[in-house]
Amino acid sequence: MVRAMAPRFPTQFADLLTPKGRRILEGRDPETCGALLDPTRPFIALQGVIDVKKAAEARDVLDAALRDTLVTMEDPIPEDSISGMVENYTEALPKTVRVRTALLESRRSRSWRAAEEVGLVALLRSDTFAGFAAAVSGRALKRSWGIQVLCYGPGDYTGPHNDHHPEEADARDGYVDMHVSLTMPAVDHQYLVYAKGGHFSELTKVSTVGGITVYRLPFWHYTTPLCAKKAREDAARRWVLLGTFLDAGPRTRASSTILPPGARPPVGGTTLGRGTGAGRR
Ligand SMILES: [Fe+2]
Repeated sequence: MVRAMAPRFPTQFADLLTPKGRRILEGRDPETCGALLDPTRPFIALQGVIDVKKAAEARDVLDAALRDTLVTMEDPIPEDSISGMVENYTEALPKTVRVRTALLESRRSRSWRAAEEVGLVALLRSDTFAGFAAAVSGRALKRSWGIQVLCYGPGDYTGPHNDHHPEEADARDGYVDMHVSLTMPAVDHQYLVYAKGGHFSELTKVSTVGGITVYRLPFWHYTTPLCAKKAREDAARRWVLLGTFLDAGPRTRASSTILPPGARPPVGGTTLGRGTGAGRR
């Protein structure tokens, strides 16, 4: 008897891309390539870059494989944040969050084994995944990037935060995040709100199927609670595939660097960058 092969992710991120996506990857889309080098532009939302049919297939593989391996990540509003206040107008809110995550740091975790089995680890580790981030950010990036999978269910959200990592030398001057949204049909909406000119005035829909958002962090932002379609809460999930990329410095080896398309490799770099993830959450 022939056993049906489990559906798998493509081994290269490039295989999910539309012709427009491939143009960006190859450096042939001047509007998008290097877009984040503009200091007034902290992030870009791209649509029509991942093939929607392939994205929907990938989403369904992901949902079946990882749904039961997730761990809840929860930091609520501090209990004494109201009762402990003694002075008017002195409220302060640390980063609050409720989301589920697939732990991919440890090869022993159930999530890692499930993600490896369907080819998700290979996809997130593929050269073209990092190459796409390098193309859009316009920067040379370190090769050992961090990967993560998040899953927002009904009411899951992230409160205002800025993702600044001042204690980490190779992240404190900024770094690049790339998110791929794979949203189930039962989701009504979820938005990213971000700051411009000192106010949370900007809004973009992130509940897409195959939409890509690329960020030059840090900047202030939050993710609104995921809202399910009526009576469809059980199947309402937004999956996010996430890569965190540190800048390659002049001393990062060429072999440890992912260059944006068309960029010349740095000359004479001999020191190996550590390339640890910035630990974004
Ligand atoms: Fe964030």
